[in-house]
Amino acid sequence: MIPHTHIEIDFKALENNLKLIKQKAGNKKIQGVVKANAYGHGDFEIARALERLGVANLGVARVNEGVRLRELGITSEILVLGGAEENEFEPLINHKLKPVIYNEGIAEKLNDYLKFRDLKHQVHIKIDTGMHRLGIAHDKTEKFFNELKGYTNLEPEGIMSHFVAAGAKEAEWNVLQTERFKDALTNWKKIFKEAPKNIHIENSAGFFNFNLDFTNTVRLGIAIYGYGYAGLLPVLKLYSSVKDIKDVKKGETVSYGGWFRAQSDMKIAVVPVGYGDGFMRAGRKGSVMVNGEEAPIVSIICMDYFMIDVTNINGIKIGDQVTIIGDTHDAGYWAKTSGTIVYEVLTLLNPRIRRKYNGA
Ligand SMILES: Cc1ncc(COP(=O)(O)O)c(C=O)c1O
Repeated sequence: MIPHTHIEIDFKALENNLKLIKQKAGNKKIQGVVKANAYGHGDFEIARALERLGVANLGVARVNEGVRLRELGITSEILVLGGAEENEFEPLINHKLKPVIYNEGIAEKLNDYLKFRDLKHQVHIKIDTGMHRLGIAHDKTEKFFNELKGYTNLEPEGIMSHFVAAGAKEAEWNVLQTERFKDALTNWKKIFKEAPKNIHIENSAGFFNFNLDFTNTVRLGIAIYGYGYAGLLPVLKLYSSVKDIKDVKKGETVSYGGWFRAQSDMKIAVVPVGYGDGFMRAGRKGSVMVNGEEAPIVSIICMDYFMIDVTNINGIKIGDQVTIIGDTHDAGYWAKTSGTIVYEVLTLLNPRIRRKYNGA
């Protein structure tokens, strides 16, 4: 039974997005980024759908995310974008997850571990070209690649970086980062005498905004889920239903803190969704759709509920569907309303909300 509050995932929309992405990608390999529960969409179901749609390469942030997918039967190549800590080497290797090498120390430690177990393992090397998060500093790549040559149990098969502001198409940062990444690639070729098998820096914005001719893989998250570019369709919708309806007299307040006070007699409806589901308190300034009409939120968002003004919605009754993320108000609307980004709106939607997968 699907509970009243549920997320619907539309595989037809996913398929549409993949088709558009593949047309643009040409020969470039697509990595589907499924970290953080596939941006709230459901990691296993999305990974399996991507496999079915011919995306045989996945990206997660953490080792435990990759282990979970393996245990559920996902066999695609999985790159752990955040790399592995020392205490994660065992599950990393045993589950055939490829780590990103994000600093010099971890390369040495992983090599030692592999030597001890008499194994070899493929890795991607991340270059910090300006993000200053993970990666070997762009001006230290020559020294590092020479060290890496000595780590004979590591099989470096990829070089990668990450854009700071790919969404700002004209930003100088993008040019600088691209140059630094190309310099690192030149050093790689000089030291290893061949090009790496995988070269990647583009996320969704980088992929749509730039036409880089020297990369051969793109790491795409938000575009796959339907946001950011014309022609893409949002994959996720969030629905609930009216749990109760109340008359509120002029001067009475609604929800915690008395933040909302009725200016006249009104009718409110209780919607069983709250920040305990990942629907942010900051979303309280938005409206939801009920019976095709807009109903403003008139309460602080509680852990499990919020209340809406339904005074002018004729014939409203308990059980009527409430669309929170849908065609009229997509995740972009809630991002604006809440002062955040689409990624956060989607990713926060947690497993307490049941998911229903359509069009598989
Ligand atoms: C290292 C890395 N690559 C790729 C992505 C995918 O980015 P997007 O969802 O913008 O395509 C992310 C997402 O945060 C990331 O951290």
